[in-house]
Amino acid sequence: MAVTMEQARQWRTRFDEESPEAVIRWALSEFHPGIALASSFSMEDIVLIAMMADVRSDARIFALDTGRLHEETYETAEAVRRMLGVRVEWRFPSMAAVEELERSKGLFSFRESLENRHECCRIRKVEPLSRALSGLRAWVTGQRREQAVTRRTLPVVEIDEGHGKILKLNPLAGWTEQEVKEYVRKRGLPVNRLHDMGYPSIGCAPCTRPVAPGEDPRAGRWWWERPEQKECGLHARNAGEYDRRDKGEGEE
Ligand code: ADX
Ligand code: SF4
Repeated sequence: MAVTMEQARQWRTRFDEESPEAVIRWALSEFHPGIALASSFSMEDIVLIAMMADVRSDARIFALDTGRLHEETYETAEAVRRMLGVRVEWRFPSMAAVEELERSKGLFSFRESLENRHECCRIRKVEPLSRALSGLRAWVTGQRREQAVTRRTLPVVEIDEGHGKILKLNPLAGWTEQEVKEYVRKRGLPVNRLHDMGYPSIGCAPCTRPVAPGEDPRAGRWWWERPEQKECGLHARNAGEYDRRDKGEGEE
């Protein structure tokens, strides 16, 4: 059953100032097993996995394996799985769609235009995400407001218009990078080795590079694009947003 706007508004008011742990505790008691965390095994996601596993060991976690992830990301995922005893529901893109894309446009089509980049993200991330979310009542992400110009107004609780109006929770929306690092350090959680190699934000290997000290954390993601274009469609606020952006309209 979809969440009503009024319900979401009430939850937003109630949880915007709450600790991430309190949000997670409430969300799991309200929605499990109809709730899952989307994990890219970023530091933020690992913090959330630890918080969820504290509440229940069978809390659901899914990860989108685009086929182009870094080896270090797989190693991190394994380290987290072993340490926290969680089960990860891996999701893959449609084999037929990837075959067609690579045969017709080659292996690096995403560098050629914004449209091609969105096409690749659509096939490798957005469509598998839709499958992962079908049947869920809520999903959890590790997004934070500090991360990007496109995330400045991110609420802790929102309705996901693009995915059947299910609830989308961003418990770490208000946390700083320092708070995330501090939590990871205190609990001795595994982190992706790429962070120590100058990657603050990690996505697919061919679309991510290290940044210089003091540079914008997302400068290394799709570095050939403008900052307001650096989203892959997982977090489009409403359906059609990316088609409008391809045409240079409706940017946040
Ligand atoms: S992205 O949209 O630019 O790729 P980012 O890397 O900042 O997103 O991650 C933000 C959140 O999106 C993560 O905390 C996670 O919840 C979700 N996410 C990103 N990539 C993946 C993935 N490959 N699998 C599952 N969730 C992901
Ligand atoms: Fe394709 Fe790059 Fe998007 Fe990964 S981040 S799905 S490789 S365009």
